[in-house]
Amino acid sequence: MADQVARRIAPAEGRLGVLCVGLGAVATTFIAGVENVRRGGGRPIGSLTQMGTIRLGKRTEGRAPLIRDFVSLASLDDLVFGAWDPVPDDAYTAAVKAGVLDRHEHLEPIGDFLKALKPMPAVFDQHYVKRLEGKNVKSGKSKRELAEALRKDIRDFKSKHGCSRLVIVWCASTEIFISPGPAHWTLDAFERAMDAGDPSIAPSMLYAWAALMEGVPFANGAPNLTCDFPAMEQLAKERGVAIGGKDFKTGQTMVKTVLSPMFKARMLGVAGWYSTNILGNRDGEVLDDPESFKTKEESKLGVLEYILQPALYPELYGNLFHKVRINYYPPRGDNKEGWDNIDIFGWLGYPMQIKVDFLCRDSILAAPLVLDLALFFDLAQRAGLSGIQEWLSFYFKSPQVAPGLYPEHDLFIQQTKLKNTLRYLMGEEQITHLGIEYYQND
Ligand SMILES: NC(=O)c1ccc[n+]([C@@H]2O[C@H](COP(=O)([O-])OP(=O)(O)OC[C@H]3O[C@@H](n4cnc5c(N)ncnc54)[C@H](O)[C@@H]3O)[C@@H](O)[C@H]2O)c1
Repeated sequence: MADQVARRIAPAEGRLGVLCVGLGAVATTFIAGVENVRRGGGRPIGSLTQMGTIRLGKRTEGRAPLIRDFVSLASLDDLVFGAWDPVPDDAYTAAVKAGVLDRHEHLEPIGDFLKALKPMPAVFDQHYVKRLEGKNVKSGKSKRELAEALRKDIRDFKSKHGCSRLVIVWCASTEIFISPGPAHWTLDAFERAMDAGDPSIAPSMLYAWAALMEGVPFANGAPNLTCDFPAMEQLAKERGVAIGGKDFKTGQTMVKTVLSPMFKARMLGVAGWYSTNILGNRDGEVLDDPESFKTKEESKLGVLEYILQPALYPELYGNLFHKVRINYYPPRGDNKEGWDNIDIFGWLGYPMQIKVDFLCRDSILAAPLVLDLALFFDLAQRAGLSGIQEWLSFYFKSPQVAPGLYPEHDLFIQQTKLKNTLRYLMGEEQITHLGIEYYQND
């Protein structure tokens, strides 16, 4: 047994309110999925918190409990859902329109539950998401007033549903690209910019600010800046709240962060990586706008640079041509096709190619991530971990990290980081994979 000391973690008692910003394809697939699982209408496949195990101690000990038995996580039965969306559709209508889950098998049987979930009016401004129009929108004299209205929603939801804790996950559309500027450096500057209606303060930032002011952990599933800047990190630390993001790592980028470490591990060169996507859901439509696409593109492009380290291996990766395209193609709906062509080279420079054609379902891959993030952010909060939760970078394309650190993108290093954090929280030994003790007698 380990001699580490377990961290004090408040018990997961009472109801956990999960508030989704956005009630589109991902959010409805997540919510309807959890309800189906609760009623025995399906299995939570893809969710580490529900299906994953964790090895403890030596390989000879045979200890590998389920993660949800090892750490105290909110149970699915204790989850209560809420959402904001500028589109007034209830969760049933939104899920039918998203066309992800089978209407007869997974939506009709829980129709009443889904119809009862109506989105709260959103803080929304078309300047930040050009391809959307919304009627279910708050009005206010200033950005601060809008953010204060969100704080009230959060408090009202908590008391109305008798929740002991809340967590917020951004599942809304990708906003236009915004670089951090003076309004984002300090909390004072940020709040002054809110009062002044500064355009560099996007709606997603108002949700994040409202969450942190209410002591509610906030996870960002889109590539927007949202809470990835010093003012928000300062607020999270001051209020003792967990934050993290960005951009759920689901399809093509997940594959990329598995294949590229393989090339580097074997010292194989990469000459080019061409990634294209066709998708026809609302997300695809929003990303068809060049300004929203730029936000997504930055998030998708970063991973190879960090994993392959061309500055350390200029011969292998110094001239890599990396291209990412997203094409809006309505007939595909949510069933995205992520296509990768990778030009690699080996011994004496001989070229080879790898083709990956991932016929995936975007929201089927994302829904279990929303669940895991909600449960793990709640755990982090109960364990007193505030600020950026880098141990959850496993879930993100573009992980938020402390200033001065580069993000860790390799999926399996991220998994090790996550599991070692759980071991650390519970006072169990870290697994280093050294293994020499199995071969040494002295
Ligand atoms: N595999 C995946 O599906 C995946 C992976 C990574 C990231 N994402 C991101 O997750 C987000 C959701 O994806 P989706 O497929 O559900 O998209 P969607 O278009 O179906 O849903 C997004 C919803 O957000 C709403 N919305 C927009 N602005 C809002 C605001 N200010 N406040 C509240 N609601 C707002 C929209 O009206 C819409 O209903 C997107 O940003 C997408 O890029 C998805």
